[in-house]
Amino acid sequence: MKPGPSLMKHYLQFKDLRAEEYAYLLERARIIKTRFKNYERYTPLADRTLAMIFEKASTRTRVSFEAGMYQMGGSVVHLTTGDSQLGRAEPVEDSARVISRMVDLVMIRTYEQSKLERFAAHSRVPVINGLTNEYHPCQILADLFTFIEHRGSIAGKVVAWVGDGNNMANTWLQAAEILGFTVHVSTPSGYEVDPQVAGIRDRGCFKVFDHPMQACEGAHLVTTDVWTSMGYEAENEERRKAFVDWCVDDDMMAVARPDALFMHCLPAHRGEEVTAEVIDGPQSVVWDEAENRMHVQKALMEYLLLGRIG
Ligand code: CP
Ligand code: NVA
Repeated sequence: MKPGPSLMKHYLQFKDLRAEEYAYLLERARIIKTRFKNYERYTPLADRTLAMIFEKASTRTRVSFEAGMYQMGGSVVHLTTGDSQLGRAEPVEDSARVISRMVDLVMIRTYEQSKLERFAAHSRVPVINGLTNEYHPCQILADLFTFIEHRGSIAGKVVAWVGDGNNMANTWLQAAEILGFTVHVSTPSGYEVDPQVAGIRDRGCFKVFDHPMQACEGAHLVTTDVWTSMGYEAENEERRKAFVDWCVDDDMMAVARPDALFMHCLPAHRGEEVTAEVIDGPQSVVWDEAENRMHVQKALMEYLLLGRIG
């Protein structure tokens, strides 16, 4: 049974859900994770199908959605630009009309957010953002869940963002605005976050620092990402030079709170945006963060297809 139009929700950016929906989802993810760890079978999505469309590479997003859907009793269809008509100029609106007649849910990783929005506008079923140039909401959902697992509520806390003003940074800002924490952002000049692209109204949810050490001071969480995101490879050399001082190292972790966590959405480049000592060190929770993609996305898929449980 497909959800009726009035019930249908897409997850195209973090701000598509409200704070109280996040409270529900994060608690639901905890329950779903506990069941998984106890080898308890839970198959509420039997007979449901997820189409996963990848126009960019992925390891975590593919494995977490695919394994998560199978664990919940459903199945998946995996499409890439190279092995479908998506790469042969079929209008995205037509692809949306066709694919959404045959599946219950669609996850898309693509370039422009506008392409995802055009797909969603013509889809009969919920659409999930699996990363665009502008946003990566499923990752931030996992990061929040991971923070809460280790440290409790993130409300009122400080998250230091060191590096590119990219899709991850934009999504952290949206999360800060909705959930009531502050992001201390430090980017090289020319790579700043743009509040308009980030889609935030409250400029008080972030503060900008010229030097990454200043951004890390007193932070509860230090986080970074690759210097060159997918789709920007032509800028690689230029970025390598611009970002050289934006490598999270022991000195930056030392000025953060003693109990600060380190996160990275992965894949990581040791020696570029983070040192091996930090990412492989005791404050790093990157492996929990990667695993938690699956648990939060199971909660998200359940919510988009079945609504609240219990
Ligand atoms: N973090 C993340 O989205 O990883 P993948 O690119 O491997 O999916
Ligand atoms: N900002 C990175 C995240 C990869 C998961 C990118 O868009 O390539």
